[in-house]
Amino acid sequence: MTSSETASRSKAKKPVADPAGRAAELRAQIQHHDYLYHTLDKPEIEDKDYDALFTELKELEQKHPELVTTDSPTQRVGGQVLEAFEKVEHRTPMLSLQNSYNTEDIDAFAERARKELKDLAPEVFDFFCEPKFDGLAIELVYENGVFTRAITRGDGTVGEDVTQNVRTIDSIPLRLKDLHPTLFEVRGEIVMLKEDFRVLNESQQEAGEAPFANPRNAAAGSIRQLDPAIAKARPLRMFAYAPGVLEFGKNPPPKSQSAFETLCATIGLPTVGVANPEESFEAFRERVKQTLELKNTKSGRPKAKPQQLKLARVCKGEHEARLYYDFIQEIRSLLPFDIDGIVVKVNDYRLQEDLGFVARSPRWATAAKFPPEQAETTIERIDIQVGRTGALTPVAVMKPVRVGGVTITNATLHNQDEIDRKEVRVGSRVLVQRAGDVIPEVVKVLEQPENSVPFRIPNECPICGSVAEKPEDEVVLRCVNRKCPAVLKGALKHFVARRAMNVDGLGDKLIDAFVDAGLVKRPSDLYRLTAEKILSLERQGEKSAQNLLESLEASKKSNLARVIFALGIRHVGETTAKSLAKFYGTLDAFLAADEASLLSVPDIGEKMALEIVRVLKDGDLKDEVQLLQQLGVQIEAAKKAMASSAAGGGALGGKKYVITGTLPMGRDEVKDLIESNGGIVLSGVSKKTDFLLAGEEAGSKLQKATELGVAILDWDTFQKQLTTK
Ligand code: IVH
Repeated sequence: MTSSETASRSKAKKPVADPAGRAAELRAQIQHHDYLYHTLDKPEIEDKDYDALFTELKELEQKHPELVTTDSPTQRVGGQVLEAFEKVEHRTPMLSLQNSYNTEDIDAFAERARKELKDLAPEVFDFFCEPKFDGLAIELVYENGVFTRAITRGDGTVGEDVTQNVRTIDSIPLRLKDLHPTLFEVRGEIVMLKEDFRVLNESQQEAGEAPFANPRNAAAGSIRQLDPAIAKARPLRMFAYAPGVLEFGKNPPPKSQSAFETLCATIGLPTVGVANPEESFEAFRERVKQTLELKNTKSGRPKAKPQQLKLARVCKGEHEARLYYDFIQEIRSLLPFDIDGIVVKVNDYRLQEDLGFVARSPRWATAAKFPPEQAETTIERIDIQVGRTGALTPVAVMKPVRVGGVTITNATLHNQDEIDRKEVRVGSRVLVQRAGDVIPEVVKVLEQPENSVPFRIPNECPICGSVAEKPEDEVVLRCVNRKCPAVLKGALKHFVARRAMNVDGLGDKLIDAFVDAGLVKRPSDLYRLTAEKILSLERQGEKSAQNLLESLEASKKSNLARVIFALGIRHVGETTAKSLAKFYGTLDAFLAADEASLLSVPDIGEKMALEIVRVLKDGDLKDEVQLLQQLGVQIEAAKKAMASSAAGGGALGGKKYVITGTLPMGRDEVKDLIESNGGIVLSGVSKKTDFLLAGEEAGSKLQKATELGVAILDWDTFQKQLTTK
């Protein structure tokens, strides 16, 4: 059956003759498409067809609850909120690695192994080298091929059962592909990709939450959430790198680390990929570099899918292991995830066995760490910034210093707890680093100035002088004044942002000026601005005033998701706003939402639901929405436009587009543009694709489109399509 037939079948809702058989078939199909998408990065069906399969299975299981299996893809949605994690003993302890810090240490490690092995190994033997991931170690347990448990490392002997949260990670298979060993325990690292981390922190800030210090903290914090709905909303990944207990029955188990990781990839577990053993070191270096550079967009963000990199390599002797160390250090900042070194493992499992362990570390592996990208400087003062949620954030202003090629002056200190823990003071000599290669962070204090005193965040808003309070369960102080100019300025900046109401040409400085002049007291006041009012500000000309009024006018045609996002409800980032809009459909329905209905919205957990109910009850938000509508903001109209686009209307008339390469606008914007003009955006090129919109540095999709004879559009031609059709 083709996927489109499947889709129409689910719509028709005919009774299914063999529900058990159909459910099994659907599960197998979904699992197969998951593998194509996550492991091979080669999806064969469109998102909507995948969704149709998923919906059909969900409906079937709802009708026949006895058919639900633990490995059903529908079971990824989190379960109950837990009181605490259960402690579980590992069948075999999760050990740690001895550290080395340079290439001489790698030589010394290899020399020790050689001495130990005597004539058991040849003079030059193979080392399996791969990155040392900077995340959280985890063990996954598969019984008869079915995912049954995930346990954190804990103290190595006893960890915590985080199965519910790990289950929500899409790229972790709930059933192994092709092979169902009696017991398959695999260890690996849970990480967050740098790009996902950046986006998450942006939305944390948009939602008025404290950002995470680095991807590792974000990953660890997400896995340790007692509410699986929160974990599900976090973009986590895993890399498999070590076996636990393996019981293969009659099949032979892998005989080397390279065979183990290759097997992992074959059965659908995410890895960094193992390079072809025939590839020379030179060719390996060139290929990896090229893939990384090719996949790096102009914005410098790595786009390469980790498993495509084939970054792990069997190295001939310590000579190549040293080359590997130097090479990975060189490309470290281009990788899509954080690493803090490489791990060098004796590849042959028989030799590993001969080498055995010393204390709690294997003699057959070493973690060769990279020197951290850190620098020393002095804290000149500590400023308090007030965000749109009223949160008082302390920011260290430091003597400028270069770290990893960038000059750092400011670093957030997050909150009082963080300041106390690190004992940061004005005048402290500190060690700083760029967390996740981006956000500057104070690592620790090296020296305190004489006669210095601990720094305390004032419990008074530095902007309006109102008291700042610490709400229950929170670590941040918040200004309680709803009319605080800093809070208002933050709210307005969020309101006009590109992904919110999208008001062009209204920058931060102008917003500050409007607030300071008392011209804008709430977001809806923006729509009351007149040329006269704008011109009353300094440095405003007729032309710019006119442009601003036009942008404001244009922004009035909006859609529900944007408006919900623009309202700046805490915890409601862009993705949540989209889910809410999709679920409630109309503004009135959203404004009438109660806790029970909110909890049935995908990705909404208890905390978010309660906060949304709280703000909805409070009259302010409703008043504001009413004012916006009175002033001409059209929310329904935007919805209708979306409905007609789904029906194939609009300039692009239901045509299917795939986007590739670097375009003058961001990916999301281009996608929005196509969809709002009635086009459909797909992720992979197939015969069904109508157009490939190709920007600069287009890669494999361009090649595939050419092969399949799909029409290729450049930006200008695409622009013409938008205006002339
Ligand atoms: S192999 C016997 N491979 O490093 C230990 N560990 O100090 C086998 N780690 O807790 C571990 N990347 O969290 C291995 N590619 C990798 C790794 C890796 C990161 C971490 C792991 C472990 C720590 C060991």
